[in-house]
Amino acid sequence: MKDTPLLQLALDYISLPKALVMAATVAPEVDIIEIGTPLCKAAGIQAVSAMREICPDKLILADLKTPDVGGLEATMAFDAGADMMTVIGGATLATVSQALAVARQRGKEMLMELTGVRDIFERAVEWRKIGVDRIVYHREWDAQDAGRVWTQADKDTIRKLIDMGFKLTVTGGLTMELLPFFADLPVSVLICGRGIREATDPRSAARQMREAIARLWSVPQTEEVA
Ligand code: 5RP
Repeated sequence: MKDTPLLQLALDYISLPKALVMAATVAPEVDIIEIGTPLCKAAGIQAVSAMREICPDKLILADLKTPDVGGLEATMAFDAGADMMTVIGGATLATVSQALAVARQRGKEMLMELTGVRDIFERAVEWRKIGVDRIVYHREWDAQDAGRVWTQADKDTIRKLIDMGFKLTVTGGLTMELLPFFADLPVSVLICGRGIREATDPRSAARQMREAIARLWSVPQTEEVA
């Protein structure tokens, strides 16, 4: 039986007050609150501390997609109250290793963000060697706008990364309708932003999504039954 993936709400706002209102509304129905990259840029690291104040018991991820100065940006995120932060896949191994070292010292998590990475497995081998254990597999917004759809090739890549020992977060235009497509994969986290925030009733949308995840991921796979 696969573990039920956690549901992460992505707050890709440029207004901190709007993000805080949405978080206060939806937080009870999700496991992780993400300070989206646009919000990190618009409101700065205080977006993380403000979110920590209104969500004292939630896991918080700062989606910094850090490109350089990994140790300092990780320190900033964790000092502000984040439990997790992201480093962009194109960052040097030195940056990855500095951010990871800070995360390990603080008992927190650093995730590699695959946005724009083409040589995924080459990089993944290097990351695994230095102890990285979490990856965000992403269908980027702009790629989605340009017509990129989720395919079996994405699932094969995700599975191979899991087989290499990574815990996988999957994201990028996820909706209720897309969940069954991923349900045979033992992913750790599913991120949903627009699919929840733009719903008529975001809290109810998040609740339904979490219930669907629990239902879909509780179905045993054929090889587990045999
Ligand atoms: C954009 C992001 C988003 O947070 C991620 O794609 C989730 O948002 P959505 O569900 O709206 O696609 O990292 O770069």
